[in-house]
Amino acid sequence: MTGVESDRFSQHLANVYFSIFALFCFKLFVKISLAILSHFYIVKGNRKEAARIAAEFYGVTQGRGSWADRSPLHEAASQGRLLSLKTLLAQGQKANTLTIDHVTPLHDACLGKHVACAKALIEAGANTNAITIDGVTPLFNACSSGSAPCVGLLLQNGAKPQGLEFWASAIHEAASKGHSDCVEVLISWGVDIDQDISYLGTPLYVACVHQQLHCMKKLLHAGASVQKGRQQDTPLHAASRQSNLDIVMLLLDFGANISARNAEAKRPVEVAIASSPVDRLLLHYEATPNSLCQLCRLCVRGCLGRSRLNLIPQLELPKLLMDFLHYQ
Ligand SMILES: *[C@@H]1O[C@H](CO)[C@@H](O)[C@H](O)[C@H]1NC(C)=O
Repeated sequence: MTGVESDRFSQHLANVYFSIFALFCFKLFVKISLAILSHFYIVKGNRKEAARIAAEFYGVTQGRGSWADRSPLHEAASQGRLLSLKTLLAQGQKANTLTIDHVTPLHDACLGKHVACAKALIEAGANTNAITIDGVTPLFNACSSGSAPCVGLLLQNGAKPQGLEFWASAIHEAASKGHSDCVEVLISWGVDIDQDISYLGTPLYVACVHQQLHCMKKLLHAGASVQKGRQQDTPLHAASRQSNLDIVMLLLDFGANISARNAEAKRPVEVAIASSPVDRLLLHYEATPNSLCQLCRLCVRGCLGRSRLNLIPQLELPKLLMDFLHYQ
């Protein structure tokens, strides 16, 4: 290549880069103006127009999970406006109106914790087992927002406590968010409290990871297995890593195995932060034998099994012993 040729070549190259840059700026400008435009439509309350713009320029997929294509019934349900919801239903709006992603008004009512709206919708024939394209049920939404009355209402009206979609398990959602009252209602309706989802683990493990002590108590009192976590990682491993003393003590009280090994063949004490309070507690616990009382309690509860824990009152034991067996 001669000097002149290479000069021309680099000039061409610079032109190409400049074109790419100009195109990029132009696209950015278009995007920003569209966003501003749809923002003004939203502010002005013209959601339909905003939805149209969004759908036109971003394509349908962009609208997933957005409010854009929600019907007035959806809006009334999500804002808890019972009167307008009832009016819309009386005017003949279908209770099972779907958005593009198959969200029903009942989903919205449950997410907004509006139990009266949920009731009105169910009375108008709303499907309590409706599933969105993401596998989310109204029950999942009720557990997500922490509305135990909604959870109860749905279960009374035929909602299945256990969804088919693993990624939207109601009990895992309630456990991770610390909604212990929802966990309690689900348990009373016979949900499998040890349901093991491969990438999440059991509800107890999920509650442990999110440090939800009250949910863990509810689950353990109801007889959840203290050993089952996520694959080989037990709840005690998760608790030890987080150095949450209360949670570690709770798990040990319910008989967590201090010698269990995780996938890296480590015991809980080996994953705890060195010389932290949890580390010291675990070392002390390892060196001290369990009391006979404690061993008996674990043994009796183990013999009874989860399904018969509620029969403890029928054992005709003194109240003191009964309370002890119930960890009260
Ligand atoms: C505790 O875990 C260890 C190691 O996995 C095992 O050998 C032992 O049997 C377990 N103890 C109980 C009571 O399950």
